[in-house]
Amino acid sequence: MRVLLTGANGQLGQSLRQYIPTDWVVLPADKIFLDITNQSNVNRVISSFKPDVIINAAAFTSVDEAEVSIELAEQVNFLGAKYIAEAAKNNGIKLIHVSTDYVFDGKSANPYTEQDITEPLNVYGTSKMHGEIAVLENHAEAIIIRTSWVYSEYGKNFLKTIFKLIENDKDIKVVSDQIGAPTYAPDIAKLIVDIIRDDKLQPGLYHFSGDQVMSWYDFAHKIAESVTVSNSKVEGISSSEYTSAAKRPSYSVLNCDKLEKFGYKRSNFSIGFNQSISALIDESK
Ligand SMILES: NC(=O)c1ccc[n+]([C@@H]2O[C@H](COP(=O)([O-])OP(=O)(O)OC[C@H]3O[C@@H](n4cnc5c(N)ncnc54)[C@H](OP(=O)(O)O)[C@@H]3O)[C@@H](O)[C@H]2O)c1
Repeated sequence: MRVLLTGANGQLGQSLRQYIPTDWVVLPADKIFLDITNQSNVNRVISSFKPDVIINAAAFTSVDEAEVSIELAEQVNFLGAKYIAEAAKNNGIKLIHVSTDYVFDGKSANPYTEQDITEPLNVYGTSKMHGEIAVLENHAEAIIIRTSWVYSEYGKNFLKTIFKLIENDKDIKVVSDQIGAPTYAPDIAKLIVDIIRDDKLQPGLYHFSGDQVMSWYDFAHKIAESVTVSNSKVEGISSSEYTSAAKRPSYSVLNCDKLEKFGYKRSNFSIGFNQSISALIDESK
């Protein structure tokens, strides 16, 4: 199996590099080697490497920054995804693309299914929605995995940021009225590898997230509990008290039944959380 991995230095990209079997030939492409917003770069890398499958883990993921870098967010999350989908389709290559719970507006009272209407509240979510549409329109056999609140010991993420603040005895205020399901990046990586290996999914959209629903405050509180020696205080606040450039959905839990019917279980929060925290504790020793 020949796999082209875009965004190879990101959180999911690093996780995939750990999980892709050693007998597969993988080209881990970072932004310097393969800028997905450059169509000729995309076409050149694909025609010279000739992958069987492309995993698009590249994205513009800074939700607040996207509000001021609208064009760049669209270039990466929409145009980049489109170029990859077109090239994959034209060369008979399978495609696994990754998207987000932030395509939803958060007004639902129940976990979102793949059939629910997307209505993003911010630029990042809008650009990711445009990417999904472009992938589905240009590559009818592509698989899109929507996931949420990604965390791990790799890259930049909420768990790592809060862990460092608490380790440094900082007091923090965290929103308690945004509800979602944290998902361990290596579990997304494992899912993607299993999907490629099993080759049993129909094309289209699938939801994948963690098995515990919580607020960002709950998540921060759990992180604080894991740092035994700290004087920091974690306080829950409402979104209206927290200044941020981007509006975020108040509820973005994903219904993962569709994938579970194929035997792919949700990410186990307790296991992923403990693994991330242990790795961070080891790193800070
Ligand atoms: N993180 C989350 O909480 C979350 C939640 C739901 C869904 N997702 C989705 O999950 C996927 C993986 O996210 P992640 O957490 O791994 O994000 P990440 O850590 O930000 O990784 C994204 C990678 O893409 C790279 N990239 C940016 N622009 C690029 C370009 N033009 N060409 C090639 N590579 C480019 C980034 O490089 P630089 O860092 O050098 O820019 C980075 O290495 C994304 O599709 C994201 O939308 C993430």
